[in-house]
Amino acid sequence: MPEPLLRVDGLRVSFPVPSGRPFRRARFTAVDDVSFDIADGETLALVGESGSGKSTIGNAVLGLAPVSEGSVRFQGRELAGASRRERRATASDLQVVFQNPYGSLNPSLTIEAILTEPLRLHTRLSAAESRREARALLERVGMPADSASRTPHSFSGGQRQRIAIARALAVSPRLIICDEPTSALDVSTQKIVLDLLRRLRDETGVAYLFITHDLAVVREFADRVMVLNRGRIVEQGSPLDICDRPQNPYTQRLVAAAPVPDPILQASRRAARLASRH
Ligand SMILES: Nc1ncnc2c1ncn2[C@@H]1O[C@H](COP(=O)(O)OP(=O)(O)OP(=O)(O)O)[C@@H](O)[C@H]1O
Ligand SMILES: [Mg+2]
Repeated sequence: MPEPLLRVDGLRVSFPVPSGRPFRRARFTAVDDVSFDIADGETLALVGESGSGKSTIGNAVLGLAPVSEGSVRFQGRELAGASRRERRATASDLQVVFQNPYGSLNPSLTIEAILTEPLRLHTRLSAAESRREARALLERVGMPADSASRTPHSFSGGQRQRIAIARALAVSPRLIICDEPTSALDVSTQKIVLDLLRRLRDETGVAYLFITHDLAVVREFADRVMVLNRGRIVEQGSPLDICDRPQNPYTQRLVAAAPVPDPILQASRRAARLASRH
């Protein structure tokens, strides 16, 4: 059987932390023995409360957090401990969209420069072809072509996130790690960005590792869900299993704490929460 697009096996990430005692080093394990696969074209959601290790997993896949143990194989290549040169071979197929559209775009560059940079690094397009491609990318994410000559500060949060998505798309990736791509946006803009990600998935067959707090998004956007608690996977399943029939007590608490638009359901969840405290 061919290997899946991404295979993470026994991943452990630990960080050095002050031990409080001189000459003693301590380590904090943020991710512990995490294993999962993502198939071509699949959207895997990663949920868990703040500090559970979601971003650390995404960062370990991207080479932005150290892999202390385990393996991260992307397209059959080992990325854990890979050199920068080895990583470059997969760089165009593995892209990222971060939560903060303010921090992730270089404020001193024009949008054209931001979009042509990955094309210059990863394709053989000429400068003129790259500029044309940058405009086509803007159009694909619903931004006017004249955005190209402007700098990031003149755009709203949602527009910046669309530009960040255009940048990720520039090199036709097979996997995009989306780390809370909509949580800094207001509700109506969230929907626009999510619809865009969905359309791009349909058009290109790209896979997503979709890190989010939002179970409503999980329900309508993910193929599969993985629940993380203190760096460990406690449950995984279909969105329906996780959101409607959670088995693990931690997932049950997470689901019960999620805001639900349905007032009757919400009232019954509040009652269940109250009852569980007595
Ligand atoms: N570079 C680092 N050095 C030390 N500790 C770190 C580092 N990066 C993350 N951590 C710790 O690892 C744990 C997991 O952090 P992580 O950012 O992965 O959580 P998260 O699930 O993404 O949370 P959030 O939902 O708030 O974004 C936290 O306790 C965090 O303080
Ligand atoms: Mg995070």
